[in-house]
Amino acid sequence: MAGAAPRRLGVVGAGTMGAGIAQLGVLAGMETVLYDAFPEALERGRERVADGLRKGAERGRWSAADADAARGRLTATAELAELGGCELVIEAAPERPDLKRELFVQISGVGGDDVVIATNTSSILVTSLAGAAARPENVVGMHFFNPPPLMELVEIIAAEQTCERALELATAAAEAMGRRPIRAQDGPGFLVNRCNRPFGAESLRLLQERVATPEQIDRIVRLGGGFRMGPFELMDLVGIDVGYEVARSFDEQSFGEPRWKPSPLQARMVAAGRLGRKTGRGWYDYSGEGRHRADDPMPPRMGGGNGRRVAIDARGPLADELRARADAAGFDVTFDGPSQLVACTQQSLAQSGSPSACGFHVLPPLDETGLVELTRLPTTAEENVRLAEDFFTALGFLIEWVQDAPGLVLGRIVCQLVNEAAFAIGEGIGAPADVDAGLELGMNHPRGPVAWSEAIGVDHVLATLDGLHAERGDERYRAAPLLRRAAALGAPIG
Ligand SMILES: NC(=O)c1ccc[n+]([C@@H]2O[C@H](COP(=O)([O-])OP(=O)(O)OC[C@H]3O[C@@H](n4cnc5c(N)ncnc54)[C@H](O)[C@@H]3O)[C@@H](O)[C@H]2O)c1
Repeated sequence: MAGAAPRRLGVVGAGTMGAGIAQLGVLAGMETVLYDAFPEALERGRERVADGLRKGAERGRWSAADADAARGRLTATAELAELGGCELVIEAAPERPDLKRELFVQISGVGGDDVVIATNTSSILVTSLAGAAARPENVVGMHFFNPPPLMELVEIIAAEQTCERALELATAAAEAMGRRPIRAQDGPGFLVNRCNRPFGAESLRLLQERVATPEQIDRIVRLGGGFRMGPFELMDLVGIDVGYEVARSFDEQSFGEPRWKPSPLQARMVAAGRLGRKTGRGWYDYSGEGRHRADDPMPPRMGGGNGRRVAIDARGPLADELRARADAAGFDVTFDGPSQLVACTQQSLAQSGSPSACGFHVLPPLDETGLVELTRLPTTAEENVRLAEDFFTALGFLIEWVQDAPGLVLGRIVCQLVNEAAFAIGEGIGAPADVDAGLELGMNHPRGPVAWSEAIGVDHVLATLDGLHAERGDERYRAAPLLRRAAALGAPIG
């Protein structure tokens, strides 16, 4: 349980993040001093806080009287000395290590020995900034998400030097602001950005191998995985150049971890000036009048099995759900039969020893999935292609044809998300519940990786990763020790 929240809060930098954080501070009842070195930026920040308070009152999120009282708690200043007396100062200045370190020296000067300095950096090691403060043990990371008044999550990051008092004060401040704090150890991307890395990185890998196009991968992730946005749309929104820089910083900070290698495809897009929405062209073309992509289709209605016989000869959550679904769609379901349809889980279709079969992949829970991926070989019988399409359409799924690989598209992305989470948990970067809260609240994932591993089964995840590792010979697919251990013990990773 966190201790008392600060009564007086300082916020340094009145930009997008600083103004949002100041709004949260005044609403939480803290006397809030918003400082910016540039008077125009300060004025814009003050207006942004006032607008946020007014709009919230108009929408009924708080009363007009509360908005007035909150506005009264705000002091906007271009004088650093006014930060004196603040128990907590949150730094939200531009993402430049030299600038942040200089500010830490200044804040230490006016704040006294006990002031806790929290940095909102999204990519710089907090440990590398802490040393600039007079008391490095009083430096902590407080990673808010954009926009702070709407995004519920705050990562509280412990640098190598951070003391428990600083962590508790930052946690209490976040809770008083109505945020959900999660704890993370310092390291590349902290907990949330690190655990989210496979979302983009594995998608780029799939594209490079030409397993599917960006449009297909995005559609599969939205309709098959329930994600709000596909990875390529997201890269376009964030900026492909920004993503590329983040990838390079992960690579550098980890001394070349294979999972975190930047993609040559990103580098090529940056070189071409195709940076995403901001340049009118990225993975999609935004130059026209209409939307950059077609609306997603609705899945077909389930039904039409008409008593036809289908054998589903496998065990595990997926096979059980498929049998139940086939039964509900009117098929006569049995266990044994010839393999005309092969699940591409632990191996690709090519490696399965069923040259005339069709491959498929879908992740449980099936009632939250609208799409099944199919794959075929040059040797696949046409009859099995038709059978696969008929069967999954009758089960109420859309179909996307992709190229052969263990896990196909969604299985690869989700298994790598689970794998990264297992590495992070195993390395003590964060707790399982915090990993899931982080990806659900900070990245809008439909469920966190620990919950995915429970829905899919740890065995299934490990089998897919081992299949990829064996077929690709790429160290990025080596399974996290914690995942292998969980599978051996029949235990969850959480
Ligand atoms: N924007 C995001 O999505 C996001 C999300 C999480 C974290 N962050 C991090 O938050 C920090 C701020 O980002 P932002 O998007 O709000 O930037 P921003 O450019 O909108 O705001 C930065 C503010 O700092 C002010 N500033 C510049 N030099 C200063 C100085 N010496 N002293 C005081 N103020 C100074 C600028 O005038 C500006 O108002 C960065 O570290 C960034 O990485 C940003």
